[in-house]
Amino acid sequence: MKEKGFSSRLGFVLAAAGSAVGLGNIWRFPYLAAKYGGGIFLLIYLILTVTFGFALMLTEIAIGRKTGKSPLAAYSVLDKRFGFLGVLASIVPIIIFPYYCVIGGWVLKYFITYIQGQAQAATGDTFFSGFIGQPVEPMMYAGVFLFVTAVIVMCGVQKGVENMSKILMPILVVLCVGIAIYVATLPGSAEGFVYYLKPDLSKFSFNAVLAAMGQLFYSMSLAMGIMITYGSYVSKKDNIEKSVRNIEIFDTGIAFLAGAIIVPAVYTFSNGDPNALSQGPGLMFVTLPKVFADMQFGSILGTVFFLLVIFAALTSSISLMEAIVSIIMEKFKIGRIKACVILFVIALIMAVPSSLGNGVWGHIKIMGFAFLDFFDFISNAVLMPIVALGTCLIIGWVVGTKKIEEEVEVSETFKSKKLYNVLIKYIAPVMILLILISSVLNALGIITL
Ligand code: PHE
Repeated sequence: MKEKGFSSRLGFVLAAAGSAVGLGNIWRFPYLAAKYGGGIFLLIYLILTVTFGFALMLTEIAIGRKTGKSPLAAYSVLDKRFGFLGVLASIVPIIIFPYYCVIGGWVLKYFITYIQGQAQAATGDTFFSGFIGQPVEPMMYAGVFLFVTAVIVMCGVQKGVENMSKILMPILVVLCVGIAIYVATLPGSAEGFVYYLKPDLSKFSFNAVLAAMGQLFYSMSLAMGIMITYGSYVSKKDNIEKSVRNIEIFDTGIAFLAGAIIVPAVYTFSNGDPNALSQGPGLMFVTLPKVFADMQFGSILGTVFFLLVIFAALTSSISLMEAIVSIIMEKFKIGRIKACVILFVIALIMAVPSSLGNGVWGHIKIMGFAFLDFFDFISNAVLMPIVALGTCLIIGWVVGTKKIEEEVEVSETFKSKKLYNVLIKYIAPVMILLILISSVLNALGIITL
């Protein structure tokens, strides 16, 4: 028996926005914006969101609602020969979910550290590397994060996923706006804002566009079966086009605010040294605690900030787990609770190498990557672009955009139909091909993005 879907359009929008808003928005977006020319990067990102991101997200949600299936079966319902795309789309969340929980565990550790009033400890240079290098503690945090995710997903689409998003997403917005306002009042932050917003054309290049595309793709949770799964829970009465627009505003808005927090804060702290912003993963876990320690009320701010990050990461991991659970339930014809328990155990085991790869298994490398980075590479740089490209090709050239248009028009007229057609058929496939080539070359160290 098919379970009930989302109870309302709002519930759906918040759940999908919960998936989209994640570590990518809070940690990666600000760093990319600072690196690639501030305002000009923001502008390009915005244009890509309302075109490329829009078309891909709308397609996935419409495929989900039309077929009513999990990502594994949805593609073969569209066209038998493309069933393999469903398999690829299903592998992506299975790869990402365990290591996402490992990172979620790191965030949890920071939150607990701040709650315990040990903000100072977190500023130590070896605090982060020392923690993630341990064999047991990070796994325990990952386990807790995974457990919380599993309990929520176990409660079902409406009672678990939707209700949790309805609680967490508004809080997340309030926290984000609150911290941004506080940062704006700090002495010296105005210059940081200028640095964030002022277009710096000298840092702008083709690489910046590629980086923006890659970021957008990940940030909107595309090509990992999630939007198909959530789409399959959307009522036929709901307006898909409008929902996608709402989700975009949410996702971009939070990313923009995160930048308005992190860029000025780090900029002021480092006395305007832009290198402080280009720390990669270290930015959130190493630099920010130092920035907080330097501020008045910094330990409170740090606590609130890491709570915000936990919420963002949790709603994303819920969406990953929900996508996989829908696949397991459909494929093996078992109930939700059983599927959740099985997946909990499997994900916990799969998380072990990603966690140990930062410490005792640090010497084991796959294609030169530690486990976590390898899983990240395979999913983000290889599988996701292939799934997205395949999706554009099957919709644009095999089954026809009409199928998607009809699905959108079940509820309302499709306002951007012409734009959508051109995007899915011509522009998006070319852009995705560029992402695929560049991200593989980047990961192999042949070019640097
Ligand atoms: N969209 C999320 C972000 O911006 C990333 C994500 C990855 C979400 C995997 C769900 C699953 O961080």
